[in-house]
Amino acid sequence: MHFQIASGSLISAEADLVAIGCFQKEPLDGQKKSHPVLERADGGSELDRLFDGEISELIAKENFTGSEGKTRLIFAAGKIPARYILLVGLGKKKELSVGGLKRIGAVLAKQAQEVKAASLSLVVQKDAIANFSVAARMQALVEGLILGSYRFDRYREASARTKLTLEKVVVISNAPRAQLEKAIIRGQAIAEATCFTRDLSNTPPNDLTPMALAKIAENVAKQERLTITVWGKKELQDQKMNAFLAVAQGSVEPPVLIHLNYKPKKAKYRIALVGKAVTFDSGGISIKPSRNMHEMKSDMSGGAVVLATMLAIAQLKPDVAVDAYIPSSENMPDAKAFKPGDIITARNGKTIEIISTDAEGRMLLADTLSYVTDGKPDYVIDLATLTGGAVYALGEIYAAVLGNDQRLIDRLLSASHDAGESVWQLPLEKRYLSGLTKGPADLVNSGGGMAQTITATLFLSQFVGQTKWAHFDIAACAWTNEGSELCPKGGTGSMVATLVEFLSGF
Ligand code: BES
Ligand code: MN
Ligand code: ZN
Repeated sequence: MHFQIASGSLISAEADLVAIGCFQKEPLDGQKKSHPVLERADGGSELDRLFDGEISELIAKENFTGSEGKTRLIFAAGKIPARYILLVGLGKKKELSVGGLKRIGAVLAKQAQEVKAASLSLVVQKDAIANFSVAARMQALVEGLILGSYRFDRYREASARTKLTLEKVVVISNAPRAQLEKAIIRGQAIAEATCFTRDLSNTPPNDLTPMALAKIAENVAKQERLTITVWGKKELQDQKMNAFLAVAQGSVEPPVLIHLNYKPKKAKYRIALVGKAVTFDSGGISIKPSRNMHEMKSDMSGGAVVLATMLAIAQLKPDVAVDAYIPSSENMPDAKAFKPGDIITARNGKTIEIISTDAEGRMLLADTLSYVTDGKPDYVIDLATLTGGAVYALGEIYAAVLGNDQRLIDRLLSASHDAGESVWQLPLEKRYLSGLTKGPADLVNSGGGMAQTITATLFLSQFVGQTKWAHFDIAACAWTNEGSELCPKGGTGSMVATLVEFLSGF
């Protein structure tokens, strides 16, 4: 999808489809129905004049309220160069949000596809709307247009794959060109990285093994000139990463620890990202029920988010040094597999009694976090599809965040708000730690069914020392069964936008 900036108006726009945003009007006291208002600067009123008030009338008659994402398509019948006019509801002005505008962008992409439009034109006016800068609105629309066009159909026969029709988006604006261009580039980098994450989460586990993931990371590094090292079993053994290796020992697929580095010219801070990449989680000997087990191909989503974030920042170049670590393994049952009752000595010397081989993610993360925090970065942030408990607690929309430094967490929450993603903090309640220390070893690897997300994070906290650290449990938001305008059923790429926003703040 190609973006172009133009001046002029929608009346003369050379595009197949022109879109007019309509705010939902607040009803006056005692009035039930509310009619949307066409905002002058978005080109709506000009078009309305040309159509002799037809548009306004249509809105009134059909009771198009302008509520968020609702649309009406009007055939332009040769009165303007465009074939169709699309009215799109923006919702209430004071409720306009980044997330809402992304959804509206996605709705535009869907409607363009519906009428087979190759080009779309819309107006983005320079004045702030609801304290919302033109750059932020532009970026959100770009992200929505790209995310709403996402399909994963490369495994279908060629004739069944969707051919996307929308090639060009012409943005008519009175805002400074440089501002718009920057916003478009940012939106594109973030949305494309998000789609890359979705692809990785959706790729079947026979094709996306740990080695295959390492190959993909090498390609990203080469393309973006990032440095990369990939450790195999030998290096993991040298590092005494026995917790990590225990998970891998039941699989014929060799484990890898991928390390990418981004280093800008000036950087005051050094941040480490860590992402769980279990390319298939069968549960191991503590095998999962077969229902929906195929979805455990997406248990590498934390690693995918981290890799995609590196791709985006290599393009956007924030002033912060970033190291990404992606521990990757399969979790399989086998004669050689680790088993409940085993006691394993982790890299930092702590012993872990295995209660459930299905609590494997924290084993990979434990050794990786101990290695990473030895390097004394300013902050460590890990992302993992770690607990089913996060799904029960927060549902598909939210990521859970926990950590040992409230200032870091506050910064991440604020970044997620600006990125239009949903994150909710859970308490890192130390009193639950007793549940992890009652076995014959220093730790058990499962704190049982209660407060799973918290006890899993407490487990991780035993491997980060004094380093300022935050953990995202993305078990819920990395995958959607519901699907939405912004994302079909499958991997979501959730948290790439938040991480890029966070890293851009240094
Ligand atoms: N990968 C799963 C967590 C998960 C569940 C991700 C549902 C996405 C959707 C993780 O490895 C796991 O199996 N966790 C266990 C922890 C338990 C044994 C303490 C779980 O959630 O049951
Ligand atoms: Mn598991
Ligand atoms: Zn898992």
